[in-house]
Amino acid sequence: MISSPTDAALDNGTEELERRVRELGPWFHNLDLRGVRTAPDHFLGDYPAIKWRSFAHAIPADLTGKTVLDVGCNAGFYSMEMKRRGASRVVGIDSEDLYLNQARFAAEVEGYDIEFRNMSVYDIAELGEKFDFVIFMGVLYHLRHPLLALDLLHEHVVGDLLLFQSMQRGTTEVDDVQGDYEFWEQDHFGKPGYPQMYFIEKRYCGDPTNWWVPNAAGAEAMLRSAGFDIVEHPEQEVYLCRRAEIHDDEPRAAYPARGGARP
Ligand SMILES: C[S@@+](CC[C@H](N)C(=O)[O-])C[C@H]1O[C@@H](n2cnc3c(N)ncnc32)[C@H](O)[C@@H]1O
Repeated sequence: MISSPTDAALDNGTEELERRVRELGPWFHNLDLRGVRTAPDHFLGDYPAIKWRSFAHAIPADLTGKTVLDVGCNAGFYSMEMKRRGASRVVGIDSEDLYLNQARFAAEVEGYDIEFRNMSVYDIAELGEKFDFVIFMGVLYHLRHPLLALDLLHEHVVGDLLLFQSMQRGTTEVDDVQGDYEFWEQDHFGKPGYPQMYFIEKRYCGDPTNWWVPNAAGAEAMLRSAGFDIVEHPEQEVYLCRRAEIHDDEPRAAYPARGGARP
């Protein structure tokens, strides 16, 4: 039997594992692969483990029999956590082969059967499948068309729960949004707790893929508008949502009638 490069890395011990990890870099996820750290100098610390610890309690502890889709899976940290919770099928998608190769390697080292595919969130309809649990962490602000992505997730892949995270900037205050405002009422636009999205025309953090950053009210309003009910808010940037049905003939208060103009 021909052994894979991952088998060789495992057979030949830590040094070979370290060599493969460096070869597959640079890494964004700081994984612990049998004691070898993939991004020990991460600017956010032990990321994403540190983030995960702040909201892991809000995720069902037992995912036995559940299907999971991890959108923007990167090196597969959350995909593997879902396997640890017993998920029967986990699919991870990302638009970057660099990260997918890391994810495949990490899953093999850890012994998890996870399907990783190169796919953009905009092409998600091609999966032709709904999942019990969809993870959409750290991707929204990297998109030029963030609301389209949320609409597509709602339409095509979220069967029940959505785990959402976005970088937020501006205030964490969240004002109540009225159903309507008359034309001359403009004060609410200047209030910090009104839903806002900051448009990054050039760069933020030196990263040209940062496009739109919401404040807290903006993140919540977009989720509601795309048809997700927020069921838990365990951490400032993290929301656990349940898919709601959208009926174009009886629009929800949080999803005002706009002539049924959804994609
Ligand atoms: C900040 S990382 C977040 C990774 C991981 N979800 C987490 O929360 O730790 C953003 C990831 O989204 C991926 N990504 C960016 N645009 C994407 C797109 N259009 N479709 C799918 N993935 C995308 C990037 O390649 C990257 O792996």
